[in-house]
Amino acid sequence: MAVGQVKQRQPDPCAFVIFGVTGDLAHRLVIPALYNLAATNLLPDKLCVVGIARKGMSNAELTDSLFKGLRQFATRPVDDAIARHLLQCVTCIEADPKDPDSFDAMREHLDRLEAARQTGGNRLFYLATPPNAFLPISKELGRTGMLAENGPWRRLVVEKPFGTDLASARALNGELLDLVEEHQIYRIDHYLGKETVQNILVLRFANGMFEPIWNRNHIDHVQITVEEKLGVGHRGSFYDATGALRDMVPNHLFQLLSLVAMEPPIRFDAHSVRSEKADVLAAIQTQSEQEALRNSVRGQYCGGKIGDTEIEDYRKTRDVRPDSTTETYAALKLTIDNWRWAGVPFYLRTGKALTAKRTEIAIKFKQAPFAMFRDTAVDRLSQNYLVISTEPTESITLQFNTKVPGPTVNIDGVEMTFRYRDYFKAEPSTGYETLIHDCMIGDNILFQRADGVEAGWQAVQPFLDAWKRAGVTGLEIYRAGSEGPEQANALLSRDGRSWRKPG
Ligand code: BG6
Repeated sequence: MAVGQVKQRQPDPCAFVIFGVTGDLAHRLVIPALYNLAATNLLPDKLCVVGIARKGMSNAELTDSLFKGLRQFATRPVDDAIARHLLQCVTCIEADPKDPDSFDAMREHLDRLEAARQTGGNRLFYLATPPNAFLPISKELGRTGMLAENGPWRRLVVEKPFGTDLASARALNGELLDLVEEHQIYRIDHYLGKETVQNILVLRFANGMFEPIWNRNHIDHVQITVEEKLGVGHRGSFYDATGALRDMVPNHLFQLLSLVAMEPPIRFDAHSVRSEKADVLAAIQTQSEQEALRNSVRGQYCGGKIGDTEIEDYRKTRDVRPDSTTETYAALKLTIDNWRWAGVPFYLRTGKALTAKRTEIAIKFKQAPFAMFRDTAVDRLSQNYLVISTEPTESITLQFNTKVPGPTVNIDGVEMTFRYRDYFKAEPSTGYETLIHDCMIGDNILFQRADGVEAGWQAVQPFLDAWKRAGVTGLEIYRAGSEGPEQANALLSRDGRSWRKPG
């Protein structure tokens, strides 16, 4: 066993109940992740997978459909024996929150199944449904007593988006917390399932050399970039009502921001880590609408080419309004009001239909203070960045200056890079394995707590309000396959800074 390696915990026997089992998420991610857990012996010995469908479907039809999905989306070659063992226990139950009787029947069915499979009454309800179904389903589960913890555990897994603004997120939290306790809710953000994202805390707190310089005395600013090549595709209806800011910032980008910016937690447990994360999000300075307009850029793509693929105008996408002002690109400048980060801007950007897929956090250190080397002005030195990257490669890179060999002192920027794949052999995964396993063992460190979600929405609310009021004014059109709106460069250049160019 390597230094610091801990043995994985075997989950308790349980019923894994999936709402929305006929949908894309269940087929593409949840079942392939369960398969990967089965292949690595991380599922409970006694497990029953229950799919809840609104329209009647036989067990055989559901199993068949999930098997097909698994073959299409598995991240590793499918071993038929393991897949069959997992899927043979799938049961389909029909239930629709619009028909309360169906939930009473579901409860009885579930009781019988659990008795037969000896899963002990532990239940995980996974809501792989559109967000408007979260509450109606939870209410029915609550009414029928299926969420009550009287001995066996009951857990509710909720996907994103969690609310559409601060008010709706607060309302959803309030209503869910009337039905279950906070420790029973697992609000998923799939970014926390990524190894490189989980590694941010290890990088910061398992090494002695980073933390002393991880503050306003040494860091000039932080850039968080999540760029995507794909356009909106077949998600026009969801995306047009959502936009880049809601889709990515209060959740994924803020997860990255909070892990980079949080204070050291006292312990590595769910309470301490989530409290520190929520605190730093709550410390993001609330901007007035005017400040929000000045400190943000939004763009929408028009048709273009990415490689050989033609991308059509966002406004011509199916289910997108032809006069839509929804942003497909957002860039923000934020500041964090605390002792560690006062005066250190955090620049965030995310967008669709861009040149490349790239996810990185670039921490820019302050320049060397004076030009000791004749002929090399300090502003001509290459910049010092620590770059934590998830896409295109999982890596950590340190950029620094070095002397070019030769009789004169010539200085050039170089990079030192650690790539995960050079050190560790990990089977490709969906990114959901750790998250699902954690739900089953009851560890919610990688899930969002109510206060964290609300702090995230609170920080973006001024931008949502300001953009809504501004309408089409300020919405910059950029070509698909480009680097995004020009104004995103201006957001930094007016502070004498620029976005890091990919290495
Ligand atoms: C999802 C968003 O949550 O995250 C998508 O809804 C986005 O629009 C996706 O494409 C990005 O995830 P990843 O892991 O590919 O960076």
